[in-house]
Amino acid sequence: MAIITIDGPAGAGKSEAAKGLAKRLGFDHLDTGAMYRCVALVAIRRQLELSEAVLGHFLKTLRIDLRPNGVFLDDEDVTQAIRESEVSSGASKVAALDVVREYLVAEQRRIADGRNFVCEGRDQGTVVFPEAACKFFLTASENVRAERRLKQLHQQGKSITLEELLEDQRQRDARDSQRKTGPLRKAKDAIEIDSSDQSLEQILDRLEREVRRCLPG
Ligand code: DC
Repeated sequence: MAIITIDGPAGAGKSEAAKGLAKRLGFDHLDTGAMYRCVALVAIRRQLELSEAVLGHFLKTLRIDLRPNGVFLDDEDVTQAIRESEVSSGASKVAALDVVREYLVAEQRRIADGRNFVCEGRDQGTVVFPEAACKFFLTASENVRAERRLKQLHQQGKSITLEELLEDQRQRDARDSQRKTGPLRKAKDAIEIDSSDQSLEQILDRLEREVRRCLPG
């Protein structure tokens, strides 16, 4: 079994890269951001206080299911709902709580145990799978990241300006990199790739080349 990790900030293109790489290698793909988003979605819907004490209680009752055809929460398809901007900002808040991180990190290790996975997130190479066979840190300039999100949101019919997105992105980046547990950070042994001026195909070619070098056989 082999684990490959892809960490990096929001909008760096991790999801497309992780999905594409998993497909090329015949590995499964673990979108750990979707797990934090599910916790945030429930907290918002139930109007829960985002505190260790309150969230600690209900976490274990959640059934988060990352299936090939979407993200399911207690059998409800929440693939679209977890991409709402309120949930994005809620996710970076719940992700700062130790009780949430401890629970989801254990879940991620349980899911990947004994299998071949490409895992994407913020702490996959540093905390969750420090022994991963191959680690990547994907970045892109602030403007490129915000423009990518703007395009996605406009395609979904949402009206938002580049300035609003940049502000939201800065706040999320600050929360994600300043928290004390599992902050967004490049692992010492991760290969850094700047995706700003590269197509998805170019990034996938580079990732695949590096992985073939890391993996035995
Ligand atoms: O990758 P994403 O945008 O879907 O992640 C949503 C939020 O969850 C993001 O603000 C950071 C947090 N997150 C995290 O703290 N650790 C992870 N492994 C994945 C995501």
